[in-house]
Amino acid sequence: MSQDAAEKTILTGVKPTGAPHIGNYIGAIRPALALAAAHKESFLFIADYHALNAVRDPKALKHDSYEVAACWLALGLDPAKTVFYRQSDVPEIFELTQLLAAVTPKGLMDRAHSYKAAVDKNREAGRDPDADVNMGLYTYPILMAADILAMDTGIVPVGRDQVQHIEFARDMAGYFNNTFKDVFRLPEHALGAETAATLPGLDGRKMSKSYNNHIPVFMESKARRKLVMKIVTDSKLPEEPKDPDTNTVFQIYAHVAGETEVRAMRDAFEKGGMGYGDAKQRLYAALELAFEKPTQLYNDYMADPQKIDALLAAGADKARAVARKTLTRARAAVGLNPLR
Ligand code: ADP
Ligand code: TRP
Repeated sequence: MSQDAAEKTILTGVKPTGAPHIGNYIGAIRPALALAAAHKESFLFIADYHALNAVRDPKALKHDSYEVAACWLALGLDPAKTVFYRQSDVPEIFELTQLLAAVTPKGLMDRAHSYKAAVDKNREAGRDPDADVNMGLYTYPILMAADILAMDTGIVPVGRDQVQHIEFARDMAGYFNNTFKDVFRLPEHALGAETAATLPGLDGRKMSKSYNNHIPVFMESKARRKLVMKIVTDSKLPEEPKDPDTNTVFQIYAHVAGETEVRAMRDAFEKGGMGYGDAKQRLYAALELAFEKPTQLYNDYMADPQKIDALLAAGADKARAVARKTLTRARAAVGLNPLR
């Protein structure tokens, strides 16, 4: 990374959507943590207001927010370095949303992929095109732009599905800056998750909750071992040479074990002499090494939600101080009185 890039503030939001699997960890969480560690300033927040557009059970919203917080903390997020907070604890973001809404053309929202997908789904099912589409979903990108612009963000690491939202945030910042004066820094996206590998699941397809072929990050050792033993393999004998690149056990191992161990397993598969039972045992040991401690930490955090609350509250204080400065500039630019 260039010196310049490291100077830029990095920010990302995560919706609370259940405990992660090791594909999420390798493909999204680990790269985001690495980016945060490599930048001078980083923000990571729980997008609970974004989740609210779909969640109707208050207990679930609360629980899921704790879960995602415990997950990132257990996997190595350092709250002393990364500003870690709940979106809903930073009211400045919501005021900024309204200021941005004033310069956002309705047509931009009509073009948003997530809204269009909901409408298409309704049409296909023969329903009213806007059935179950609430204004929270429709204006989702404006809130997301406020999340980003409030913190003077330079870089937003996201998956491909979120790129349009970052482009919209740039557009909104541009409309505002051109209409009034330069208040917002224009953010860029970084496709960290896309360059990371895609992990296969137990059945060899992409690991995904929707295929139910996933290995959760946080689980007890016995259950983890059982899942690893379930990975589907062909029926080649141990002495036969095997192609490591088409073999699920190796594909997962390659992302969790150390370089030397990975090379050793690759060689043994290619030469012959590495049976699947042995390889699974090694994979299990590597997963234990990687996730046994985080699982313990995760359980500790989940047993102590007050600790999570305290950490997130301290993060919110820091985030609010930054957002307040941005909001002060934006209010002045449009002709509103300073914040009281
Ligand atoms: P799922 O398919 O289990 O519902 P999501 O679509 O919610 O997972 O993905 C959340 C994040 O994890 C995304 O950034 C995505 O790119 C990453 N991710 C999901 N599955 C994998 C996988 N099998 N390998 C690598 N990254 C993945
Ligand atoms: N929309 C993102 C998602 O669904 C979550 C999110 C909300 C976000 N606000 C953000 C991501 C700001 C990056 C920056 O995954």
